[in-house]
Order: sequence, then C-alpha cells, then structure tokens
Amino acid sequence: MESGKKMIFNTNKWYNKAKRLEQLETHTRQTRTATFGFTAYAESDKIHRVNRHFNTIATRYDLMNTILSGGIHYAWKRRAVETLMIKPGKKILDVCGGTGDIACLSASRVGEKGVSIVYDINRKMMEQGKKKAMKGVTFVQGDAESISFPDNTFDAVSIGFGIRNVTHLETGFKEIFRVLKKGGTMCCLEFSKPDNPLFRSLYDWYSFRIMPVLGGLITGSKEAYTAFPETIRAFPLPEELCLILKKIGFKEINIKKLTNGIAVIHSAKK
Ligand SMILES: C[S@@+](CC[C@H](N)C(=O)[O-])C[C@H]1O[C@@H](n2cnc3c(N)ncnc32)[C@H](O)[C@@H]1O
Repeated sequence: MESGKKMIFNTNKWYNKAKRLEQLETHTRQTRTATFGFTAYAESDKIHRVNRHFNTIATRYDLMNTILSGGIHYAWKRRAVETLMIKPGKKILDVCGGTGDIACLSASRVGEKGVSIVYDINRKMMEQGKKKAMKGVTFVQGDAESISFPDNTFDAVSIGFGIRNVTHLETGFKEIFRVLKKGGTMCCLEFSKPDNPLFRSLYDWYSFRIMPVLGGLITGSKEAYTAFPETIRAFPLPEELCLILKKIGFKEINIKKLTNGIAVIHSAKK
C-alpha cells in the first residue's frame, strides 16, 4: 500500500502497480489466495465472502447506491448502456446484474421481441431486483466464471460494478467473450481512481471516513462499506484493464472516464 502523510485527509490507500497485479488471476492461482478489499482469503473462499457481503446489504443496496453517489450511478449506467448500441429485438446479458438497473435500461431498448437477462450469483440481490424490474427482464442465477449459456449467444453483454468481485477476473471476461456473438458489444462499468489529486483526496476522505459510517447506519454493516472502497483501490487501472481485454481477444476497446474517473466504462467488440 502506498503511504501518505499524517493529516486529516491522510486516507490515500490506492494500491501501487505491483499490488494491483496481485489482484489478477495468475497471482491468485499461484498463491491460492484472493483478496476482497485489503483482506486476503483462500482462493476458494472469496466467492462465499462476496456472497455474504451482498446478502448483508441486498435489501438496502439500491438505496445505498443512490445515497452514496448522490444518484449519479443512474447516469453512469445509462452512459454504459449507450455504448452497447442496442437495437430492438436483440439479446442482451447483464453479468453480475444484481438488482437489475442495467438490464432494465437494456430491456427498454430491445423492446418486446428482444431479451434482457440479469445474471447474478446472489439470489437476494435478484429478489430485490424482481420487485422493481420492468416487464421483459429475466433473472438467471449463476457464476460469472462459468456462464450458463452457450457460445455466441448474445448481441451485447454488460457488467456493471461486478468484475471487481469475481475471484478470477480474466476468467470472468473470457466467459463474457465466449457468450458474445462475433461482432457483439461488451461494456464494463467499474469504479476507478479519480485523475485530479485534490478531488481524489476528498474522494478518499469520503470513502474511508463517511461511507462506512453511512453504511453502518443504513445497512447495519459498517464492515461491508469498509471493504467496498478498499476493493476499488485494489482494482487494475483503466489502461491495465485495457491490456487484459486485448489479450482475451476484444477489439475496438474504448475507455470513457466519468466524473473525473471515479467510474470508467470500457467498451469493446468481439
Ligand atoms: C456491486 S453489485 C452490482 C450490481 C449491478 N450490476 C449494479 O450495477 O447495480 C455486484 C454484483 O455482482 C454479483 N457477483 C459477485 N460475484 C459474482 C460472480 N462470481 N458471479 C455472478 N455474480 C457475481 C453480486 O452478487 C452483486 O449482485
């Protein structure tokens, strides 16, 4: 972890490159450990740890997103879905789809003849989603590391704020690539490191001093909202993710930074 000076805004916990590399699949498989936030777990335990995290917060997940982001996450999700260039009648999959916000946006674009599927490992998250989802959204439970659909099935695949949680990041993207049709589009919306150092200091202070307190008050789990900002600081930077996508075979990869880089959309084609 990079060290910072002792002052009120001393909350700089962004991983350096070497530590970010340790989040990737090769390191995870070699060491048989996987991290969730700054805590290391046995490789096979991370999925359960992540599931517990979302079980704890599922009923308040949407509310927390709106409070913590001031509602801006809806705009980020709209921007992500725009990059998919969805046409009526198409088949769209939203991996790690949670409560279904992104799949609802896709459903409104594919219309009645299209297909929009939320694919998530956590039943509780999807149950919350079912309560609010529009007609035309289907929920399927499963692991992003072995997507239960045949090769070349979907015209577009999205993943929003999900890949950070998947134990083997590259395997997750390989699965997305596999189920995409040739020429199909992919978008990954994920948190990242703000560009402006001053803004970043404020964001760090907010993430480590305010978020856990709000999370504790609203969801009853301060721990969940301590791990959340940690996972962001351990995640590969946009250019690093770009190289991973390229290696898997994605083409025409574009990076779009949102809100000074707090969130980033990677869009690409198979
Ligand atoms: C932060 S939420 C994002 C939900 C939604 N995409 C959104 O943007 O609001 C992450 C989701 O990823 C799901 N998830 C984590 N690991 C997964 C895995 N291995 N396979 C499928 N879903 C997973 C969690 O259950 C959770 O619903």
